[in-house]
Amino acid sequence: MIKVTIDNIEVEVEPGTTILNAARKIGGDIVPPAMCYHSKLKGSGGKCRTCIVKVSQGSAKDPRPMPKPVASCSTPVQDGMVVQNITSPELLEARKGVVEMLLINHPLDCPICDQAGECDLQSLAYEHGVAKTRYEEPRRTFEKIDIGPHIQLHMTRCILCYRCVQTADQITDKRIHGVLGRGDTAEIGTYIKNAIDNDFSGNMIDVCPVGALTDKTFRFKSRVWYVDPLDAHRDCKKCSGKVVIWTHGKNEIYRITGRKDEFGEIQEFICDECRFEKKDIKDWVIEGPRTIERTSVISQNHYILKAPAHRINLNSVELVSKNLISEE
Ligand code: SF4
Ligand code: SF4
Ligand code: FES
Repeated sequence: MIKVTIDNIEVEVEPGTTILNAARKIGGDIVPPAMCYHSKLKGSGGKCRTCIVKVSQGSAKDPRPMPKPVASCSTPVQDGMVVQNITSPELLEARKGVVEMLLINHPLDCPICDQAGECDLQSLAYEHGVAKTRYEEPRRTFEKIDIGPHIQLHMTRCILCYRCVQTADQITDKRIHGVLGRGDTAEIGTYIKNAIDNDFSGNMIDVCPVGALTDKTFRFKSRVWYVDPLDAHRDCKKCSGKVVIWTHGKNEIYRITGRKDEFGEIQEFICDECRFEKKDIKDWVIEGPRTIERTSVISQNHYILKAPAHRINLNSVELVSKNLISEE
């Protein structure tokens, strides 16, 4: 094991661990934000630069600082390394610059964007963004494209994190989309707008950290804070069948997603049958309310969700009184 100090907190990790994962082991506010790294996708990271940190001591053997901020998701720790994230004002200033770059072409769409309320970029802009833009050039815009029966691509919101491309590459056998072009003209594209049609295509929606890939069965149906997330499962031959169902009113399922961990990354990929075709509450065994961070806008008006799921009696009157399950 090797020792690394991040924001004055020491942690021991396996050799080869990245700074980001060492920080995640400590947890809390010192964990850098990450928009392109995804723990379940091989080779992810290194694209968005939101996870940058300052390395003020390279290692015990060579204590020189690294000359520039480094991407914590792709930089392995060294024994005796000293890292600064929220304890370095200049690093936070640099992250502000990254956010400014990410927002250069981004539309002011949050009020009508399906991702609002669960968007990494929205959170990042809130925490590190500035109210004004210095950008005066025309922003690049794109027409919305239907890719397949269930997904719409709104390229204007894409931050080119490559997660959807890696998802399609690694969990399906039919990737037909990718990043076309370079630099300012780079975009997610499918040759001759081929439909994306495979059993796991919907996972691209879940891994997209912004509202660029959206679920056509949920688009404009509701804001996420008006629907109730419940853990549920079913016996599925294609995937684990463990999902989150987002219900509205009495037993109406508005959307189904995979379960995400505390860093907003999918725990298990789910199949399209579970995601798009099982919208009847009787298809599912309800486990209970999804635990939502208190700070998340999704937890607003969900007073029962603020307790961890294991402390909630699933047969309790709370669920019935919220109409999350029927009384029979
Ligand atoms: S992707 Fe995120 S930041 Fe962009 S418009 Fe949608 S909610 Fe707002
Ligand atoms: S569409 Fe979403 S997941 Fe794909 S590269 Fe763009 S931001 Fe990333
Ligand atoms: S999360 Fe590290 S570069 Fe994007």
